[in-house]
Amino acid sequence: MKGIVFTEFLDLVEEKFGLEMVDKIISESELDSGGIYTSVGTYKFSEMLQLLQHLSEHTDISIDDLLLVYAEHFFSVIEKSYPGLLATYQDPIEMLSSIENHIHIEVRKIYPDAELPSFEVMEKTKNSLTLIYKSSRAMHHFGLGLMNKTFEHFNTKATILLDKIKTDGTEVKFTIHKTP
Ligand code: HEM
Repeated sequence: MKGIVFTEFLDLVEEKFGLEMVDKIISESELDSGGIYTSVGTYKFSEMLQLLQHLSEHTDISIDDLLLVYAEHFFSVIEKSYPGLLATYQDPIEMLSSIENHIHIEVRKIYPDAELPSFEVMEKTKNSLTLIYKSSRAMHHFGLGLMNKTFEHFNTKATILLDKIKTDGTEVKFTIHKTP
């Protein structure tokens, strides 16, 4: 997992819960990195999982909810860091149907060792989209948060349903309807 995912996560934890919480979850986790991350480095996903687990224990917020809120923050990082990529799109359905064949392809050019999910388009109309998310990392709520912000970015609204195809969350169906 790319360092930017860790640095932005720890920044948000500090902002919401304070530096003591950052120190606490780092010292409770077994981290090869020692909890020192640079945005261009690459670290084990298991480090993120441990940090999330400990934060969840201390805050009583589920890992899914933590990932949802974190993704909403991460979208603003994307807006700041990759404005050109977002400017390619005028419509949220177009953007979300292009994660697999454009957006994450560009991401891989920037970070060749990025660990990215797949988002297969099952059905697409002007105002609706069905996507199948697949990833061993089961970060579907991170995806949900980015989708929420994608609609906000285009001043639109949508209902987004999430159905787990596999109970461990490694395969999830998203059914998206843009609100007219
Ligand atoms: C992961 C970039 C749009 C879903 C990531 C990662 C980066 C990234 C850097 C981390 C990879 C790693 O740590 O190895 C971007 C950029 C985007 C974008 C620059 C837009 C310009 C989206 C959108 C979605 C999405 C719109 C929507 C649903 C995900 C998910 C992951 C991820 C779920 C977590 C990894 C996993 O589930 O396996 N993305 N992304 N991304 N991205 Fe994107």
